[in-house]
Amino acid sequence: MNKIVVGAYWGDEGKGKIVDLLAADSDWVVRYNGGDNAGHTIVVGDKQVVLHILPSGVLQGKNVAIGPDVFFNPGSFLKDLNHVVESGFKITGRIVIDERAHVIMPYHIKLEGNEKIGTTKRGIGPAAKDKAERTTDITIADMVGENFLERIKEVVSEKKEELIAANILTKTFDDERYCERVHEVYSEYASRIKEYVGETSYLIYEETKKGSVLLEGAQGSLLDVVHGTRPFITSSNTIAGGAASNLGIDLRKFKIIGIVKAYPTRVGEGPFTTELGNYEDAKTEEKMKKLSVEEKRKVIEGDEKLLGRWIRMDGGEYGATTGRPRRTGHPDFVALRYSAMINGIDEWVITKIDVLGGKTFKAAVAYKKDTKITEKFPFRLEGWEPVYSQKEYFWESMTEEQCIQAVTGGYDVLPEKMKQYIRDLVIYTGIPVRMISLSPKREITVVKDVLLRTTEYLK
Ligand code: GDP
Ligand code: IMO
Ligand code: MG
Repeated sequence: MNKIVVGAYWGDEGKGKIVDLLAADSDWVVRYNGGDNAGHTIVVGDKQVVLHILPSGVLQGKNVAIGPDVFFNPGSFLKDLNHVVESGFKITGRIVIDERAHVIMPYHIKLEGNEKIGTTKRGIGPAAKDKAERTTDITIADMVGENFLERIKEVVSEKKEELIAANILTKTFDDERYCERVHEVYSEYASRIKEYVGETSYLIYEETKKGSVLLEGAQGSLLDVVHGTRPFITSSNTIAGGAASNLGIDLRKFKIIGIVKAYPTRVGEGPFTTELGNYEDAKTEEKMKKLSVEEKRKVIEGDEKLLGRWIRMDGGEYGATTGRPRRTGHPDFVALRYSAMINGIDEWVITKIDVLGGKTFKAAVAYKKDTKITEKFPFRLEGWEPVYSQKEYFWESMTEEQCIQAVTGGYDVLPEKMKQYIRDLVIYTGIPVRMISLSPKREITVVKDVLLRTTEYLK
């Protein structure tokens, strides 16, 4: 069956790990949204690979494609390719970049100044503006075409005022010289990516008939340009429906798999109902600083800020693209039910549940504001407070050996309280779980009996 992998929260749910794993049963792995704002981490043996634009199936030697609505930074693509090869992997499958994909130009990155949102500064927003403008975008086809320099000149001329205002064009660096300089760098990129350029619509259509296509979403559902926590969102359609419009596929032929990190994280600004501590403190704290015994004692007494730091430390919650600390929170079932709804999720994959071992946490089952209470995810999340269920979850942290045993033993051997948390998540969202990931490593993922047992919860 063809599959779509989407993130259920605000990104960094572990999509890369799961796509790499699922790629084993697929022929083509395709990116359908975003650009190099994504950072997908895959761990194979002692090697860690972080991919920004190249689909994660590449490590399994699969064919990979970059769809027509992706914001394509050629420099990042070439870096990803090098990184894969230098990490000791062979690229044996085909690579196709759709000729309609939008190219991120140097001025997009310079024009990015949106501190309010806390973007990844990869030029995604400015490139999306040009996409919507229609006359100022540069496509892959333009880039590898005969008249690339003329096209750059046309666009720069149309954007002249904007580029002067941003000090990109100056008296000493006029448009003529600027265009030639950009062309010099980008025509070199063009010559290196030319061999990969093609079209993906017919290709994916034909491959879908075989049932072996895997689509890799970037970002998370709550960062979707329409359905996310606007304005603190990205500029592309991140949800499964986005894959349908961005690639032009028939969604009915795909199973939709939502990746739920066992706890939500968010990097960048914006409301976060179940946040532990606050972002300003997280920004200034020392990276990966271990908690002292005294601090852990405080967590047991209910210090939420330290619990947030502890999860960040144990989960290695620092951005794969920007290195920024990720904000951490208690699980949010309200957000997950919304995410299941807007995507049409068929099955969850739960990741990083190992990180919660040894920590007491709870799950939000409603939101409240003044006298109002709701189980619906509000459009404007600001000001809503979490309402937690009465239950607290705790289990001892598992050693790697215990995690490996759970892979063989299957769902039944997982800690009772962990199963209770999974059961509550399944019942609240109405969606069963396909896999449970207990480690960054590809092979430490529980599959045996997971779907069977969690489907039983729904009967
Ligand atoms: P993505 O953007 O959704 O692909 O996620 P990232 O790669 O940005 O962040 C997920 C991080 O968690 C990466 O460092 C992964 O190696 C790691 N990871 C994935 N699954 C697990 C898991 O089950 N347990 C632990 N401890 N780490 C995981
Ligand atoms: P992956 O695929 C987490 C966030 C940024 C910022 C907002 C807008 O690794 O899950 P942008 O640069 O897209 O204009 O930034 O979106 N963001 C992500 N957060 N994971 C990502 O990708 C993200 N891509 C963008 O931090 O808040
Ligand atoms: Mg990421």
